[in-house]
Amino acid sequence: MTAPPRLDPPARLLCGPGPANVDPRVLEAMQRPLLGHLDPDILPILEQIARMLSTVFGREGGLTLALQATGTAGMEAGVAALIEPRDTVVVGVAGYFGQRLVEIARRAGADVVEVGVPFGQAIPTERLAEALRRHPETQLLAVVHAETSVGVRQPVEELAEAARGSDALILVDQVTALGGIPSRADEWELDYCYSCSQKCLGAPPGLAPVSVSERGLERLRARRSPVAFTFDLELLARYWVERPPVYHHTAPILHLYALHEALRLALEEGLDARFARHAEVGRSFQAAIEERGLELLAEPGARLPQLTAVRVPDGVDGREIQQRLLHDHGIEVGGGLGPSFPPIWRVGLMGANATAETAGRVLAALDDVLGSTP
Ligand SMILES: Cc1ncc(COP(=O)(O)O)c(C=O)c1O
Repeated sequence: MTAPPRLDPPARLLCGPGPANVDPRVLEAMQRPLLGHLDPDILPILEQIARMLSTVFGREGGLTLALQATGTAGMEAGVAALIEPRDTVVVGVAGYFGQRLVEIARRAGADVVEVGVPFGQAIPTERLAEALRRHPETQLLAVVHAETSVGVRQPVEELAEAARGSDALILVDQVTALGGIPSRADEWELDYCYSCSQKCLGAPPGLAPVSVSERGLERLRARRSPVAFTFDLELLARYWVERPPVYHHTAPILHLYALHEALRLALEEGLDARFARHAEVGRSFQAAIEERGLELLAEPGARLPQLTAVRVPDGVDGREIQQRLLHDHGIEVGGGLGPSFPPIWRVGLMGANATAETAGRVLAALDDVLGSTP
């Protein structure tokens, strides 16, 4: 074939469930000279990334690194590392990604106990505690901190108390949470947290930061059956942490530069200031949505600031509105995740997009396509 024309993708305002637009400094970092994955000059970069990620996760010891993978792979790696076939896993299901955790745990051979709630609600911690009491053999308690499919925040800070007296380790999906709302892995006794690069952390997709507690590492070392080579955290530690490094895979160096710069931006801003920015922008966006007579799916008190699920009003074709936002305004927002979910739009104001200006652009575009004014 002859070569197609040079790529010229349109500029979009990415206000869906992710990816989010990244700061120009992050894209610029990807233009720096490519290094080999075992070059002596890449090693301090890996160490800095791991240290910055530990700070964002809220962990001092244990193991923290970034998998060369998607958020889902972070989920799969954690489940595979912490359970063995026939183990019992209690999974809190508040939406699509809780369901995915169930699916992945089942594929790993676990006996899964699901604790579900209607869409829009967080799972009461007492119900998770009750499931652990009914299943004292449970090895893992797994929940989603920020359930992107419904815009719900799970109070993961209450899990350790709920799991007290049980052997269950705690696994938390922070794919939409990390960098947007606080994470205190040590204080909240979270044994395995995983995230992605492309949402509130503000880098392009392609990396899955993960963080394991000392207790999680002990579980890993005591395994009877091996885990898949690609996501073997002990082998990955030999590349990321141990020196001299041991080759495991050819690391995506340009993506690591991008994550390094995104984390630098987060620390320069200050984590508390970053969380406050997300909280404030999300709160005022949600208030403006309600002022327009639109309804939010998530219950008050359980709403994520960085991801707002807006119910599509009766008689409105939600998909058509999404297409008009994209084509007429260059704005991407998400829809509901499949027929079992209520019709919704999912608006993400994450990372560099968590600004009053971006929220205002989304509201103005929505007003235009819905033909409404406040
Ligand atoms: C809460 C949550 N978990 C897991 C994932 C999966 O991440 P990825 O699409 O990077 O595999 C997503 C993606 O949106 C998510 O929102």
